[in-house]
Amino acid sequence: MARLYGEHEDINSNKVKGFFSDRANRELESDLSIVLFQDKETSEKRHIEEKNAFHEHIDCSGKKILEIGCGIGRWVETLHDKCESYMGIDYTEDMIDIANETIDYDNCKFQVMSATDICENELLIEPPFDIIIISGVLMYINDDDLIKVMENINRVGSENKKLFIMEPISRETRLTLKDFYSEGLDADYNAIYRTEDEYVECFKNLNYNKLFSDYIFEDISHHSETTNKFFIIE
Ligand SMILES: C[S@@+](CC[C@H](N)C(=O)[O-])C[C@H]1O[C@@H](n2cnc3c(N)ncnc32)[C@H](O)[C@@H]1O
Repeated sequence: MARLYGEHEDINSNKVKGFFSDRANRELESDLSIVLFQDKETSEKRHIEEKNAFHEHIDCSGKKILEIGCGIGRWVETLHDKCESYMGIDYTEDMIDIANETIDYDNCKFQVMSATDICENELLIEPPFDIIIISGVLMYINDDDLIKVMENINRVGSENKKLFIMEPISRETRLTLKDFYSEGLDADYNAIYRTEDEYVECFKNLNYNKLFSDYIFEDISHHSETTNKFFIIE
C-alpha cells in the first residue's frame, strides 16, 4: 500500500484488470459510475464535458474509429450515427460483456483485446483507423508497455490519424498508487499519474505534426496533486 512520488515503479496489470472486473460486477448508481468512479450526476457531467471537447476538435463524419480501453462503451452513443464504424477494445472481459449487452449498432463492435497486444488481423473491424480514442487508460499501463501501445497505434492508425487522449496527470511530480486502499472506491487501487511532460515525451513515438492540450473537468475534480488534460494529436 503506497503513494510513490517521482519513482518509476511498475504496477501490476493483472491487479488493474481484477479491479475493473470487480467494478463491472458491483451494484453502482449508474453504468457511467463503473468507469468514471463518481456519483451519477458528476459522472454524467464529466461524460458530457468530455464528449463536447472531442467534438469541438474532431470531426468524425465517415471516419473509422478505434477506442483503446473502451470500458462499457460509453463513447458509442455520441459516435455511432456520425462515424463509418467504431471498434472498441478492452482487456477486461466483464467490461466488454456490458458493452455487448447494452449496445447494439451494426457499425459498432466490441472485442476483448489488450492495448499492449493489438492483433490487427483479429480485429472485428479491419484497420486502418482514422481516429483513435483513449480516455483514462494510459494511467494503468507501465512505461515499457506504453511504448508498445504507441507502436500498436502506429500500426493500426491511418497515415492521417487523429488521436483524442484524456488522462489524469500529476500537477508536479509523477505519482504512483501501488496497492493503495481507496476509501472512495472501496478497493486497492493501482494507477500512475504521469506529468504532462512525460506524456508529451511518450507521444513523440507517434511522429505527430501537431499536438494540442487543454485542461478538462476543472470544476468537477478537486485534487490538489492531480488534474485532467486532454490531448489532440495529429
Ligand atoms: C477508467 S476505465 C475507462 C473506460 C473508457 N475509456 C471510458 O472512458 O469510459 C479504464 C479502462 O481501461 C481498461 N484497460 C486498462 N489497461 C488496459 C490494457 N492494457 N488494455 C486494454 N484495456 C485496458 C480497463 O479494463 C478499463 O475498462
